[in-house]
Amino acid sequence: MRTVHKIKELRTILQNYRSQGKRIGLVPTMGNLHEGHIALVSKALEAADVVVTSIFVNPMQFGANEDLDTYPRTLKADQEKLDQVGNTLVFAPPVSEVYPSGLANQTQVVVPGVSEGHCGASRPGHFEGVATVVTMLLNMVQPDIAVFGEKDFQQLAVIRKLANDLMIPVEIIGAPTVRDDDGLAKSSRNGYLSELERSKAPKIYQTLTNLAQQLEQLPAPDYEALSKAACEQLQSHGFRPEYINIVNSLTLAPASDGDRELTILAAAFLGTTRLIDNLSVTRP
Ligand code: PAJ
Repeated sequence: MRTVHKIKELRTILQNYRSQGKRIGLVPTMGNLHEGHIALVSKALEAADVVVTSIFVNPMQFGANEDLDTYPRTLKADQEKLDQVGNTLVFAPPVSEVYPSGLANQTQVVVPGVSEGHCGASRPGHFEGVATVVTMLLNMVQPDIAVFGEKDFQQLAVIRKLANDLMIPVEIIGAPTVRDDDGLAKSSRNGYLSELERSKAPKIYQTLTNLAQQLEQLPAPDYEALSKAACEQLQSHGFRPEYINIVNSLTLAPASDGDRELTILAAAFLGTTRLIDNLSVTRP
């Protein structure tokens, strides 16, 4: 496994692979890799001969009061994990390589519709930062396929739309959420939780599972009342819920009566840690 830090070097290596007829995959990450990330790399290796895992803590997608400075940077451990997986190339550029003219001068990608609401509403500018860096990574690597996690359901919808709308010739592949044994979705931010908080954290998934059961069983569910009750349930366990929204899985608009493919999107603070999760259901 090789690590490169410069776009020029990355392009030279990939050109060589491409001229040998190899298919290239991309897995964008912010590092501090866990089993969720590794599952994406394994999935990418099923559809590509060589996989670029990018490791870049993207300043553009962090709000002013968010955890950009404290976000865990663990390149050496990440490299060791990727070494076990297979034919991967690590691309770990410094901020100056990605934004040479500075963030304020950077052209941005804005994705209307799916990036509004939910995390888009509570983290202004976040999805513009994600969409911009992902578009740039797709242009740097020019992969045949790119794999993203369903854990970040709204992010995946934003990326599918930008690839489609900007006619980027790449297949976007979604991968299921990898969870700890108690149901908590794996996340780099789980490391911020105290022992007590970690013991409470699986309540998010339990709340989503309960809500999903009701959506599958009730003949005419009142989506707003169910969301409100689920928020109250989380609150009673010490969370500060930001939202629990029941949406149409494709448009991410609030679910309406005729919708069958639904997704429950949730974001909640536990102490100072912001956790997100989601669960999709098919109504009978
Ligand atoms: P990051 O949070 O590092 O996640 C990188 C990728 O791993 C994303 O596609 C995310 O959905 C996926 N992922 C994270 N936890 C997962 C889990 N438990 N199961 C399955 N997949 C999981 O998401 C980002 O970075 C950034 O926004 C990025 C897309 C790299 C742009 O900067």
